Amino acid sequence: MENTKKTIYSGIQPSGILTLGNYLGAVKNWALLQEEYNCYYGVVDMHAITVRQNPTELRKRCADTMALILAAGVDPERHTVYYQSQVGAHAELMWILNCFTYMGELNRMTQFKEKSSRHADNINSGLFTYPVLMAADILLYNADLVPVGSDQRQHLELTRDIAIRMNGIFGDIFTVPEAYIAKAGARIMSLQSPEKKMSKSDENVNGFIALLDDEKTIRAKIRRAVTDSDGEIRLAPEKPGITNLLSIYAAIKKITPEEAEKEFAGMNYGQLKEGVSDAIVDELKPLQERYYEIRKDKELLNRVAAEGAEKAASVAYRTLGKVQRKVGFAPRKL
Ligand code: TYM
Repeated sequence: MENTKKTIYSGIQPSGILTLGNYLGAVKNWALLQEEYNCYYGVVDMHAITVRQNPTELRKRCADTMALILAAGVDPERHTVYYQSQVGAHAELMWILNCFTYMGELNRMTQFKEKSSRHADNINSGLFTYPVLMAADILLYNADLVPVGSDQRQHLELTRDIAIRMNGIFGDIFTVPEAYIAKAGARIMSLQSPEKKMSKSDENVNGFIALLDDEKTIRAKIRRAVTDSDGEIRLAPEKPGITNLLSIYAAIKKITPEEAEKEFAGMNYGQLKEGVSDAIVDELKPLQERYYEIRKDKELLNRVAAEGAEKAASVAYRTLGKVQRKVGFAPRKL
C-alpha cells in the first residue's frame, strides 16, 4: 500500500520566528495531508543563509523549526523530516539545474526583487539562484504535490519549467510537480497593513502573530488589527482587514471564507475579533504545549534529524545518480 501513495515535498526556512501565516499557509496542511501522501519536509537551512544569519541562532532555530513541525502533528516515523544541509544531494543537483535555468527566468522572480531591495547591502548570488535550490529540493524526491502559500507559486512554476525542459532534453527524469495552495490561508496578510503579506520580517510586531505568542498577546494583536469604518462584516477587496480576519478564521476551522462570512453576518467588528481570537488561541494553545515538550527533548530531535537525513538521502541520491548519468557524468558509487 505504502509505495502506491503519491509524494509530497515542502520546506520551511528556519530564519526567524514562525508566524500564523507559515502555519495556516503551509505547516497545518502538511499535517493534514500526511494520511494520504508519503511526505518529505525539509528545514531548509541552506536557503536561510541567503540572508545573513548568526550561526548560533541559526542552529537553535533549526531545532525550533523541527520541533514546531512535529508539534503541528507531522509523524516522523511515517514521514521524513530533516535538515536540508545534511543531504548533500540538494547542492549537487542544484548545480546541474543551474546549467538549465536562464538568468532571465531568475530575474523575473518577484521574491528576489523584493528581498534584494530589503537586503540591498547583501545581494549575493545565493539570493539570486535560491529558486533553483528550491527546484532541486522538490525534484530530488519526485514530488507530485508541493503544499505552499501563494507567495511560492512563482517558484513552483519555475520548478515545473525546469523539469519539463530537462525531461524534453533527456527523456523522463523528473516528476513535474503541482503546487497545492489551500483555498483559505494561502495568503495571510499583515494585521497592521492588510495589503501586505504577514511576515516575520515585519518591523511592527503587531503585524504578525508568532506561533509562540501567548494568549494575551494574541488577543491584543487581533484587537489592534486594522479594519475599516464601514462596519459590515463581508469579504471584499476594498475591505482587506476584515477579509483577512475571515480568512484566518476559515483556515483554522477548515471552512471556506464564504462560510466564515455567513457565520459572522450581522455581528460587529468586536464580536468578529473575539471569534477570531478564540479560534487562534484554541488552535495554538495545544500546539504550543506540544512544542515546549518536544523542544526540551534534544534526544528526540537529534534522532528525528538523523533518521530523516538518512531516509531523505536514500531517495535523493538515487535521483541525483540518475540525473548525473543522463547528463553524461561517469557512473558514481555513492
Ligand atoms: P518560507 O520559509 O518563507 O515559508 C514557509 C511556508 O509558509 C508560507 N507562508 C505563508 N502562507 C500564507 N500566508 C503567509 N503570510 C505566509 N508566509 C509564508 C510559504 O508560502 C511557505 O509555504 N522558499 C520557501 C521554502 C522552500 C520550499 C522548498 C517550499 C525551500 N524549498 C521546496 C516548498 C518546496 C520559503 O521561503 O518559505
